[in-house]
Amino acid sequence: MVTVIIPAAGQGKRMMRGGNKVFLPLVDMPVLLHSVLTFSACSEVDNLVVVVASDEVVQVQTMLCNLTGIKPWKVVAGGSERQHSIANAIKVVPSTTKTILVHDGARPLITEECITNVIKASVVHKAAIVAVAVKNTIKTVDEDGWVTDTLERRKLWSVQTPQGFDAHLLRKAYEQAEKDQFVGTDDASLVERLGVRVKIVCGCYDNLKVTTPEDLTIAEALLKERKSMVES
Ligand code: CTP
Ligand code: MG
Repeated sequence: MVTVIIPAAGQGKRMMRGGNKVFLPLVDMPVLLHSVLTFSACSEVDNLVVVVASDEVVQVQTMLCNLTGIKPWKVVAGGSERQHSIANAIKVVPSTTKTILVHDGARPLITEECITNVIKASVVHKAAIVAVAVKNTIKTVDEDGWVTDTLERRKLWSVQTPQGFDAHLLRKAYEQAEKDQFVGTDDASLVERLGVRVKIVCGCYDNLKVTTPEDLTIAEALLKERKSMVES
């Protein structure tokens, strides 16, 4: 069984729209529903856990109740950091789940093909994440704005979601992180700390995370282009 956790309990500060960006309209529906519907339509996915702020739970339950034919779902309240939101969701994942996928609610352009590739790789390797090769040169910089190093670009990958894991492994990684008070910026980093190798699945540059205002404009254009290709 495959369960997908969709963290969407952030505050959208960098979007500067005074609220949670996952509720902003994008083409024909709120940002959050794009990924909910894509995962639900994926034949390998069995159920979904959506995480939002405690005062958004009822609103999102209503939104999901209004979608027809969607896979079984739960909505849970998140925490102060993304990692705490996912920790809350892990608690309600059915014990029969073998594979857990985590996907940012703020990545509406995810495709079924990419989801399937991550599920397959996480079944084989126990931990698999979507990533794209970085296009820019990446440098480290000190607090005063001086370059300290230039990293070797061919070794650098920009990591996205979904990230897929053996359910037992992900539970263990989250328990250990909590014990050690470790807070990472993605789920794989918690698994890496256990000494487990994580496999890269090549993704697409268009699986962007809606983070700053221009991301919404780009996501809108990409979705409209996709729709026109389907219609033509
Ligand atoms: N997220 C979450 N719980 C948190 C923080 C973030 O579930 N406490 C979710 C967001 O809703 C988003 C994903 O994690 O879908 C990636 O986070 P990010 O892009 O940083 O979103 P926000 O935290 O909302 O944005 P910002 O950092 O600009 O405030
Ligand atoms: Mg954030």
